[in-house]
Amino acid sequence: MSEMLSRNRARNIFFGGSTFFFLLFAALTAHSHWYMVNVSTDREGLTEAVARGKHVWEKHSCINCHSLIGEGAYFAPELGNVWTRYGGRENPDSARAALKGWIKAQPLNVPGRRKMPAFDLSEQELDDLVEFFRWTDAIDTQDWPPHPVG
Ligand code: HEC
Repeated sequence: MSEMLSRNRARNIFFGGSTFFFLLFAALTAHSHWYMVNVSTDREGLTEAVARGKHVWEKHSCINCHSLIGEGAYFAPELGNVWTRYGGRENPDSARAALKGWIKAQPLNVPGRRKMPAFDLSEQELDDLVEFFRWTDAIDTQDWPPHPVG
């Protein structure tokens, strides 16, 4: 009899365990939030232009084809790292010009290649979008996504 779990012990293990894991979950959630706000986000670089660029990104639903840091659709290249891929870390001016030029040149009618639509954006909207890409690229994602497409 003494080796069996009494009702009381079983109940204590259930409630104790539930409480323990609930508190652990709450602590990890708080830590993740703290980490995102204080460590991985480029807060100083979060300018008005970046925020406006995010609105342009959302208004035109670029995410319906593209992914950003792994989230989104997989029809078109990942853009969370596009600033680095266009050499923005070494040469910001030419990366800015190349990105704006690419968006303005759409649609490219290359047979057999996926097409991006034209969006008819203003210079201001294009500048803001590029700022949004530059800022997103500066987020410390701890190497996420593991194998970025594009
Ligand atoms: C209907 C799908 C679609 C939508 C919506 C779309 N794109 Fe694209 N985009 C593409 C495709 C496809 C490519 C790759 C084309 C190629 O390589 O020839 C691309 C390429 C790009 C590139 C170049 C990426 C690289 O790695 O060279 C940029 C920058 C870009 N898109 C920005 C945007 C922005 C900003 C928006 C929203 C305003 C947007 N796209 C909306 C389909 C889309």
